[in-house]
Amino acid sequence: MFRPKSGSSARSIRKLSQNEDPAVKSNTIERITDYITNYELPSPCLVLDVDAVEENYKEMASLFPSAKIYYAVKANPAEMLVKRLDQLGSCFDTASPGEFDMCIRLGIAPERISYGNTIKKQADIAYAYAQGIRLFAFDSENELEKIAASAPGSRVYCRILVESGGAEWPLSRKFGCAPEMALELLIKAQGLGLDAYGVSFHVGSQQVNLDRWEPAIAKVAEMFAQAKKQGVNLRLIDMGGGFPTHYRTDVEPIKSYEQKISAAMDKHFGTDLPDIILEPGRSLVGGAGIIQAEVVLISRKSTEEKTRWVYLDIGKFSGLAETMDEAIKYHIVTARDGGPTGPVVLAGPTCDSADIMYEKTHYEMPLDLKEGDKVLILATGAYTTTYSSVNFNGFAPLGIVCI
Ligand SMILES: Cc1ncc(COP(=O)(O)O)c(C=O)c1O
Repeated sequence: MFRPKSGSSARSIRKLSQNEDPAVKSNTIERITDYITNYELPSPCLVLDVDAVEENYKEMASLFPSAKIYYAVKANPAEMLVKRLDQLGSCFDTASPGEFDMCIRLGIAPERISYGNTIKKQADIAYAYAQGIRLFAFDSENELEKIAASAPGSRVYCRILVESGGAEWPLSRKFGCAPEMALELLIKAQGLGLDAYGVSFHVGSQQVNLDRWEPAIAKVAEMFAQAKKQGVNLRLIDMGGGFPTHYRTDVEPIKSYEQKISAAMDKHFGTDLPDIILEPGRSLVGGAGIIQAEVVLISRKSTEEKTRWVYLDIGKFSGLAETMDEAIKYHIVTARDGGPTGPVVLAGPTCDSADIMYEKTHYEMPLDLKEGDKVLILATGAYTTTYSSVNFNGFAPLGIVCI
């Protein structure tokens, strides 16, 4: 925890809580700005409202009562947050020994942890197995053989390639394989003594096209039917993440996603529902966090140039990696909002020319913005602290405080 603050600089930040923005729920804005007002924080720093994560988790759990939620730890592995989700009954999707070791250290039973990365070292699979983990993802023959050798008898699910157009942070072709190949591999898995449990997919992160789930669910149902004919009883559909956070533009509520997904499950599985796993990351934690950062420099590239360059003390290498290709467009507010504004390019503080967040995307900031002003970057609870580099240019990694 940080030192209580004295003095008045906090008063200007207080105005931000009046800047009602659905990107972050108003009670979350209030809790976070209260904290920022009262405590001296390093800059930049993410403030994460764990109660807001709880609200998001409960909403998702109530909308999908027949699904198990495996929180994607990679979105934000803050221990206080993981502990809260554990208390709420969540399971955990982990990508590496670092993540599952932390979960186990926090007392989470290995039965509630999956090793969902399709790219694992043989030794790490063996280590996970020794820790008691029995649920593994794969999407290739070699990976399947590694699991069979080092995690005998475990439950495995194969990730298939699905269409991810419409996702603001697509996961491309790096993960998954063709469904036909996945089916062959699942049959092989059974032959290798593994439990061929089912199929997973991920429609891409920050997926704003609600129609991406139905074709994927249809494909999985078809695979279940074909596997059955060959004596393999698939029982799991793992739909990954993809549910959005509100950044600068409106997104549909999770309820609308649930309606589409439930309709697709009814259509393709009827009353014979398989086990269902959801692996939300962004949608649970994104809107629960706000980064407070600071303006370091405001400049122009020529005397005629209208556009100002605003350099913050946070950039692509200190937490805002998802601004790569200007993919995720964060909402940024200042205590001077409300007056006249002008166009800006937003960049980070390092001596790397790639460290520009927004140059093509139109951003405006107050004309009276000054160096030293605080800015709040909304809905930054997901994929920020962990993307922050260790020490690039000597800058410390992004700080976090959970409240
Ligand atoms: C296997 C897996 N599951 C779940 C997630 C979380 O996705 P999201 O943050 O879109 O909810 C990811 C994100 O990369 C992932 O790779």
